[in-house]
Amino acid sequence: MRNQQFSVCVGRIVAMLLLTPGLPAQSADLEAGRKIFEEVCAACHGTTGRPDPSNPVVQALDPQPADLSDPLFNSREPTADWHIVVTHGGQALGLSAVMPGQQGALSAEDIQNVVAYAKTLAPGSDKYPPGELNFFLPVRTKKAFPEDEIVYKARITERDGDNVWRNVIEIEKRFGKRSMGVLEIIHEDDGTDSEITEVEAGAKTVLHWNLERRSILSGALIVAIPTDSDESEEIIPYLAYGKQLNDKAIFQSSARVIVPVDDTGDGEVELAGVVHYLWTDQRRAVYPALEVTATVPFDAEDEDTVQWTALPQVRIGLTKGGHVALNLGVEFPLSDQSYNTRYHLNLLWDFADGSFFKGW
Ligand code: HEC
Repeated sequence: MRNQQFSVCVGRIVAMLLLTPGLPAQSADLEAGRKIFEEVCAACHGTTGRPDPSNPVVQALDPQPADLSDPLFNSREPTADWHIVVTHGGQALGLSAVMPGQQGALSAEDIQNVVAYAKTLAPGSDKYPPGELNFFLPVRTKKAFPEDEIVYKARITERDGDNVWRNVIEIEKRFGKRSMGVLEIIHEDDGTDSEITEVEAGAKTVLHWNLERRSILSGALIVAIPTDSDESEEIIPYLAYGKQLNDKAIFQSSARVIVPVDDTGDGEVELAGVVHYLWTDQRRAVYPALEVTATVPFDAEDEDTVQWTALPQVRIGLTKGGHVALNLGVEFPLSDQSYNTRYHLNLLWDFADGSFFKGW
């Protein structure tokens, strides 16, 4: 009964969140932007957005500017980040101060126009999901955006008796326009055994996105291979959805189906949803979030077999641009479960945005 009321309540919140309209689109004067780009930016960035290596001005730059005409690079950078960099200079997001801030030299409108123009320098970038939809990594909800990222995940499960410590290294690498391959190596230590227990590999692809509505949907297929030959391989398809609700909140959710190959009837569906509160636009900040998960076995006979958990957490951006960040969370079972509390720590490094040591 309690579960039922709870699911109705969660359902209502989710429905309410999904009906919120997206952010208003901003208009810009691209022709005015082009003129400014050619006058102010092209000396270093090249008229096409690709720095000309034979130009002595460019040769003297350290670091070299990235190629703004590369559709993967151009698409993955949120427009808002470019606003910050062009207004305040590279150092504002942990990049080099060789990228000069234009505040003072250009009006706010000029900056909006030149950034909008710079965004058009990579023809075909509209085939790539835009960086605006690269939302924060939650602890359990799967992300929809394809990443170039390495994540270390530690989890301590507190049981009556022994605690279990689980370490995961996850490597994600983008391929194609909208896809990502993923490899996870899972190590567990229960006090008696300390070993690699599982390897997971798979791929994820973005099925749909809408920049105006700030929404993104992805599908993935993962294969989990246990190192213990007595245990079954698992096939894990999932869907992941993300939506920015307004300028203060992001909602993300995922549905994973976990199917053991040896006994397909013994699988389960894992639903997860999370809301992050965006109280600031600083990247090096602490963002609170609340996550809820529900695990439903295939052979669920009554509501009580659904396992609910609540997972309050924080995301802590560590670098100026937030490309290295920490997640800390505590997971509480809301229904009968085999453990008392779980503590989560994730350390992520988005390596597309530069070295781990950049921008602290
Ligand atoms: C003096 C040379 C110079 C000028 C002029 C200049 N830039 Fe840059 N810009 C750079 C360099 C160098 C970087 C790379 C900084 C880094 O990667 O640490 C950069 C980085 C950037 C980035 C960030 C890309 C990223 O990595 O996210 C954007 C966007 C950008 N510039 C746009 C502009 C625009 C628009 C103008 C004109 C208003 C402009 N730049 C003028 C040198 C310049």
